[in-house]
Amino acid sequence: MKALIYDGPGRKHLGERERPQIKDVGDAIVRVTHTTICGTDLHILKGDVPTCEPGRTLGHEGVGVVEAVGSAVSNFRPGDHVLISCITSCGRCDYCRRGIYSHCVSGGWILGNAIDGTQAEYVRIPHADTSLYPVPAGTDEEALVMLSDILPTGFECGVLNGKVAPGSSVAIVGAGPIGLATLLTAQFYSPSQIIMIDIDANRLAVAERFGATRTINSRSEDAVAEVKSLTDGRGVDTAIEAVGVPATFELCEDLVAPGGVIANIGVHGVKVDLHLERLWSHNITITTRLVDTATTSMLLKTVASGKVDAKKLVTHRFTLDGIMEAYDVFGRAAETQALKVLITP
Ligand SMILES: NC(=O)c1ccc[n+]([C@@H]2O[C@H](COP(=O)([O-])OP(=O)(O)OC[C@H]3O[C@@H](n4cnc5c(N)ncnc54)[C@H](O)[C@@H]3O)[C@@H](O)[C@H]2O)c1
Ligand SMILES: [Zn+2]
Ligand SMILES: [Zn+2]
Repeated sequence: MKALIYDGPGRKHLGERERPQIKDVGDAIVRVTHTTICGTDLHILKGDVPTCEPGRTLGHEGVGVVEAVGSAVSNFRPGDHVLISCITSCGRCDYCRRGIYSHCVSGGWILGNAIDGTQAEYVRIPHADTSLYPVPAGTDEEALVMLSDILPTGFECGVLNGKVAPGSSVAIVGAGPIGLATLLTAQFYSPSQIIMIDIDANRLAVAERFGATRTINSRSEDAVAEVKSLTDGRGVDTAIEAVGVPATFELCEDLVAPGGVIANIGVHGVKVDLHLERLWSHNITITTRLVDTATTSMLLKTVASGKVDAKKLVTHRFTLDGIMEAYDVFGRAAETQALKVLITP
């Protein structure tokens, strides 16, 4: 079968691989029908993720059809259409019992990282009963690819951790796929303001179409002054970091109102300054989280019913043969205006 293989920092190729086989009684083999590329795959290619070794098939998002199951799998049968979660969970360990699936002792984020992933014709999914979701009949399967990672990430790490509430004010720093997924799911709670901040004019225009009440280009405008003027000088109740660099986390420290929350989503590679000399008295909360995909079933219903139009995040389409070009287009998003690229083996 064909697979996109990581060859070490800066290198990858589309190559031939043995089809995966059942290794454990809880495994399923899934024929991938749609997959995509994540900003985190670009982090791997930069060499930021040492757990991902050369020779690994990349990809942690996708939908497909079950091809085979191990003897202990009871929820799925060959022929079932399934959504693949980016987080693998056993459902039994202490972390899983607490709903912290991202830290499952025999799972977590392993797909396309510690084990071969979804950017291939077939993928092996361990703990299939608790790591796959049945696709409701008649659902648009392309839209469901947004549920493997980006919608639960925006919702859990941004909206839930950020305690977005009716009438509250929210600033989201970063209007990439994750920031936009946060924007879409924040609207479940009817905040009075959702201010999107980025340096990419195209992404800010998309954010406006997706429901932002105000967009700020922090390259040409003073984001702190603008947010203060929109919030009676207080700042926002929830400041969500969806980039992953020190400057944007520090911006959130300047944007949050007394009593508010800074909810970090971004993957950070270097340390960040925490201005406790100012914030110690502001009654703020800072949260961090690796997505648990604990809300996937709930979000699946919102997408299947049309409450959330997840498919509007798809900007480009490729076949698996064109995946090298797909990486190029996704990697130059500022020029190509790419959000999510859909890859169909
Ligand atoms: N916590 C989790 O479980 C989890 C899960 C998935 C992704 N992530 C992380 O979330 C982050 C966002 O992911 P994405 O796929 O949307 O990334 P992305 O790179 O597509 O988007 C980031 C956005 O930030 C903007 N940006 C860059 N520098 C900026 C600055 N100084 N000021 C304002 N905006 C700036 C860019 O223009 C871009 O639109 C990444 O760090 C990713 O690794 C975290
Ligand atoms: Zn991802
Ligand atoms: Zn577990």
